Order: sequence, then C-alpha cells, then structure tokens
Amino acid sequence: MCGIVGIVRRRVGVARDLVKSLKKLEYRGYDSAGIALLSNGKIEVIKGVGTIDKVVGNLEGIGDGYAGIGHTRWATHGGVSPENAHPHLSCHGEVAVVHNGTLDDFEEMRSELMEKGHELKSETDTEVVAHLIEENLKDRDPFNAFVEAIRRLRGSYAIVSMMAGERALFLARNKSPLVIGLGDDGNYCASDVAALLHLTRRFIFLEDGEIAVLTPSKVEIWRFADGRLERVDRKADVIDWSPQLLDRGSFEHFMLKEIYEQPHVLKKIAESVDYYRKFSTKLDRMLEDGSLTIVAAGTSYHAGLIGKFLLSKLAGVRSEVLIASEFPEWSSHIKEGDVILAISQSGETADVLEAVRMARTKGARVISIVNVPGSTLTRMSDESVFIQAGPEVGVAATKTFTAQVAVLYVISSVMSGGNPSRELLKISDMLYGSMETFEHFAREVSDLFKEKEHVFFLGRGINYPTALEGALKLKEISYIHAEGYPAGEYKHGPLALIERGTPTVMLVPIDENLRRKALYNLMEVRSRGALTVTLQPEGADMPGDESLEVACTEELLSPLAYAVPLQLMAYRTAVLLGRNPDKPRNLAKSVTVE
Ligand code: M6R
Repeated sequence: MCGIVGIVRRRVGVARDLVKSLKKLEYRGYDSAGIALLSNGKIEVIKGVGTIDKVVGNLEGIGDGYAGIGHTRWATHGGVSPENAHPHLSCHGEVAVVHNGTLDDFEEMRSELMEKGHELKSETDTEVVAHLIEENLKDRDPFNAFVEAIRRLRGSYAIVSMMAGERALFLARNKSPLVIGLGDDGNYCASDVAALLHLTRRFIFLEDGEIAVLTPSKVEIWRFADGRLERVDRKADVIDWSPQLLDRGSFEHFMLKEIYEQPHVLKKIAESVDYYRKFSTKLDRMLEDGSLTIVAAGTSYHAGLIGKFLLSKLAGVRSEVLIASEFPEWSSHIKEGDVILAISQSGETADVLEAVRMARTKGARVISIVNVPGSTLTRMSDESVFIQAGPEVGVAATKTFTAQVAVLYVISSVMSGGNPSRELLKISDMLYGSMETFEHFAREVSDLFKEKEHVFFLGRGINYPTALEGALKLKEISYIHAEGYPAGEYKHGPLALIERGTPTVMLVPIDENLRRKALYNLMEVRSRGALTVTLQPEGADMPGDESLEVACTEELLSPLAYAVPLQLMAYRTAVLLGRNPDKPRNLAKSVTVE
C-alpha cells in the first residue's frame, strides 16, 4: 500500500509541509518512513524503521530544501529494515525514488544492473528504479532518463523521483494511485488528496500509463501511446473536503471521531435523496438489459451483502455479491450488458479495480458507490455516486460502512417509489441521542471480552452481514478471534466451539417471527454455557448477560442502528487491551496490492 508525497517550490522550506503531508498518509502503512530533500543541488535522505515521528521527529538537525519526497511504508518486497525503507538512492546519491506498488521482473533488472557495476543495498523492488535512472543518465537528459526507466517497468507503481541539480519531481503511475496538487508557489503530489488538503484544493488525478513532471511553476503530463510519448491536457478538479476533517480534535483516536460522525453523515444522506434518485434511475434503466453483480472487499463487501438484501426486499431486484479478489474465478457468466456495482470507500482497492477491469473486457457496464472523489474507481466507472462521509482515516471502516448501507437503502427505496428520507432521519436522531448509552454499554462489554480468545456474532436476515461486520471490527483492531455467522446456521457446526464463558453476541431481529427463531438460537448457546450479549429492539426482552436496547423499529434500517454499538464495542476492547485502533498491526487503510 504505502503512502508517497512530493513537494517542489520556488523557495527553500518544504521539509515541514512534507512531513505534515506524510503524517496524513500514515494510515496507508507505518512500518518504516523516510524523506529526501533537495537543496543546493544535492539530495539528503533521512529514513528508518518506525513511525514518521520516530524517524524524522521534530526535524531538528535536519536541513531543508526546495524539493522533497517522502514515503511511509507497508512492506511487500523485503522485510522491515532501515535499508528497505524509502526513499532509495542510486549509487552516487544523485537519484532518489519513492514507490507504492509492486514491480514484476525486478530480480532480472537487478542482476543486469549489478553486472553493470551498480551496488544495490536493499532487498526492495523499488531500488532498481533509482539505479535504472542513474544508468540512463549516462547518455540522456533527466526527463528521458526517467521515461526510459519507466518504460522498462511491469507491475503496479506510483513513483516519484528527484534528481540532484533538478528543481523538479518526476512522476509515473500504473495501477497505484497518484494525484497532483496545484499550488501558487509550487506543486505537489501524493498517494491521495488527504495528504495535500493543507496545501491546496486543486487536483489532477494521474491515469495509468501517465508520466508527469512538476516544477514550481509548471505541471506537464504525458502518456505512452503505441510506445511513443504524447502530451496530455488535463483540467484540475476542486475537492471541497476541508482540512479540519482530517484533525482528530479532542478525540483520542480517529476511529472514535469517525464513529461519532455517523449521525451527521446519515443526516446528510437523508437530505440528499434527490442526488441519489438520479443514480437510482440510471441503475434501474441499466438493469433492463443485464443482470446485477455487486463487487467489493472487506467492510464494503458486508455493505454489499446488505445492499443485495435491500435491493431484493424493496425493489425486487435480483443481484449476486462477489468478493472482489474472488471475482476472476467466479464470474465466468458475466456477459456484455451486465451491470457491475462496485462498492469501495477508497475507490483504490486493487482487487476491486481488477474485478472492474475484467468485467469491462467482457462488455459489462460499471457503476460505483465511492467515498473518495476523483479516485481511480470513479474514473473507471460509467456512473459513480458518493456516500459523502468525508475522509476516513482510521484503518477500520466505520462511518463509511453506515454511509454505504444508507446510500444502498436510499437507492433501493426510491427504485420502488418510496421516500427514505424520513426513516433515515429518525435513525440519525436516535443515534445522536444514544451515543452515551452505547458508550457505557461498550465499556461493560469490552471488560467481558478483554480476556477471551474467541467471540461469536450471530444475526439473521439483513443482520447476518452486520454480524460479519461486528466480527471484522473486533478482530482487526483488538486481535481477538471473532466470527460472524447466520444465527440459524450456527448449529450446523460452529456450535461445537461454545464452551462455558464463550462470548456470543446476538443481533436480535425486530421482526417478531424472526425474533422467535433468534430466541431459540440464543437458548442453544446459553444452555451450553455461552456468555451472551444482545443488541435488541426496545421491549424485546431477550435474555442476555449484557443487553442493549436500541430504539429502532425498522428491520431494514437495523444494520445502521446495530453497527454503531458494535463498532464501539470493538473500539473499547482494543483500547482496553492497549492496541492502537487507528493503526492495527499488518493492515493499512487502502489496499492497493492484489
Ligand atoms: O476502500 P475499500 O472500501 O475498497 O476497502 C475495502 C477493505 O479493504 C476495507 O473495508 C477493510 O476491510 C477495512 N479494514 C475494514 O475495516
């Protein structure tokens, strides 16, 4: 995944902004970090293992420059070590490179370079790029040296390079995100807009196969066409996210802040029904000629499952839901005219993008539900709609899950002539008024979970995916093993895992018929000694060692009502166990590798 950033300015003084931008990207990876600064024509590098704060600290004793590049790493090729941290330098320190992605055939390029006398110091694929450029500089100018190096590469990359003596940044993109920010006294680039919002709101999104050169006063973009380079003209997009949205404020973690933002996000969606109506009408029309496949990963996949349920129940639309990474193997039936609904918070998840590319080659049409404006998925789709959740920094998806579900509810409801706004506003109000109660409950439950090895989450109907999501939240940030299951399926095997004291969370249905069945399932686990935690509608009176009443009367909206306490339960457990919920081990926010 990794985060990369670059700044080039008329005047010296990029270091502080470089580090500030890099910190906004830490959610993409945080096992090592580094920056390179260009001043007086020379490149200076500071890099190492650990967080950005640990590696560059408060910049004391570090010089400054008029250009700089930075990197925060999520290791792919090569372990976590100071040598493998980026930026990577060429033999004579005249070329510095940062990279996000993975390069094919780098072993071959590496051997070739070593035969030519280059000394490579790391195990990474990235380092070969710095040496390739250096080799090309022997008989080419800097631009052509860069272009020729990029021409050799296969695989996925967002690359930014700096060369000694050149007040310029050299950029290339293929299958890894890279955005250019336009400023008044310089220009910028980064893996995503969040890193640059404190510097500009004007952005150009690079496309696959494009190369760009940034100087303090110019941005030039080229594209390979039939092996030759041609200039590309691109207009800037204005992104209206405010940089304050990226501040934690008084919250201890971004995840907590984002959990608390949910009532507001749902209100915004409820007030934008007309915007979603247009998308819904287009989807409806598209479905006249083809079948619908929903594609997503992780939490977005869980939202997709809920979407399938809503589309079927409310609009009578039949669909299937495929996990993006499995799409290539499970999609032989997709044909021309079919519709792919891709759901992704980031719009950059490699598995989702690959599924979309594949579907396109079969002639399918693609529509998407996305959070990040300008992201790759929006540019690969025939139509996109935004969930308007604002930037999400915590690695665990929270407000974007409920926003995706709310948007799917609105789309399904308006397809059947419904008016979803009122019900959605009711849920938003209920959440505003319930946060304190949910918090109290979450703290009690976390005390119960903290010493357990396994927790099970059960749900029925529309809350089966909510149970999956509750389990994903708990496992990814607390590292306690958690499984979500359809409550009725549990007795077909997993029930064997219940021992005295095994915590089992039941999401109690609102529908009375379903609730009766859920009660049997609850009794099955209780009679085997499980500790039960129930989230239930008011007055349901289901037995539980810990019970939370949630004031929701609409089965179809109950995932929104239940998701919030589930997120808080996971959050409080992680904090109690001393884990940092914003930076869970081994994970990163945007998964841009397959
Ligand atoms: O950006 P996306 O929605 O495409 O991301 C998909 C998953 O990587 C993401 O939901 C992941 O599972 C989160 N860590 C869940 O909290």
